[in-house]
Amino acid sequence: MSFKGLGVKTDNNPQAFRAKVSIRKSVLDAIGADKGVFDAFAGSGEMYSAVWKAAAFYTGCDQKPQRDGRLLFCADNRRVMRAIDLAPFSIFDFDSYGSPWVQAIILADRRRVAAGEQLGLVLTEGAGFAYKSNIVPEAITILTGLRTGIVGLSKKQDAVIDKAIAGLARRMSCTVEKRWQAEGRTGASMRYIGLVLKGKGLDPQT
Ligand SMILES: C[S@@+](CC[C@H](N)C(=O)[O-])C[C@H]1O[C@@H](n2cnc3c(N)ncnc32)[C@H](O)[C@@H]1O
Repeated sequence: MSFKGLGVKTDNNPQAFRAKVSIRKSVLDAIGADKGVFDAFAGSGEMYSAVWKAAAFYTGCDQKPQRDGRLLFCADNRRVMRAIDLAPFSIFDFDSYGSPWVQAIILADRRRVAAGEQLGLVLTEGAGFAYKSNIVPEAITILTGLRTGIVGLSKKQDAVIDKAIAGLARRMSCTVEKRWQAEGRTGASMRYIGLVLKGKGLDPQT
């Protein structure tokens, strides 16, 4: 298991941009550019232009209309992810402003990962603001067992994230094969994370 780049700090937007691009390139390299990407928080397409356009196919989703020619759902990604077949996609990008964990749970419950199969997952987590008020988002409670009202969580954002990733991997019957991470140094407490998950069980290819 390798956790390259854990703890790399990014100071400002260009650095955060570079870190986000680098994490996505690592995930794409690990999973393979012959696979498909579902970009749940597709936005203006910065990550598409920098990385995901190299993938075999791409589908984005954003609640705001984006008119740049990408194949996009214009809707709440939670509704879309509960409705469409997720099996064609091997990389999921959850570049949220706050918490990506609801989408991660929907993914876990709707995208079976076969034994030996690798799935790429990219997360932007900025739930530190909630932890500062001792609020634990419900999806974090589901993945970690932590309850709202726990005091001092804001100083333990990384431990909460580790627990959430472990809970997610368990829910998906996967192991965490690779992890890359960078963090924003500003008050927003952003964490940029790339994961390669692998389905547990005997790989039918071996
Ligand atoms: C940080 S930006 C994403 C930037 C994007 N990854 C890029 O490369 O340009 C977050 C985006 O998520 C969208 N968004 C927020 N909540 C959403 C939801 N529940 N469903 C769909 N889109 C959502 C916002 O409209 C915003 O464009």
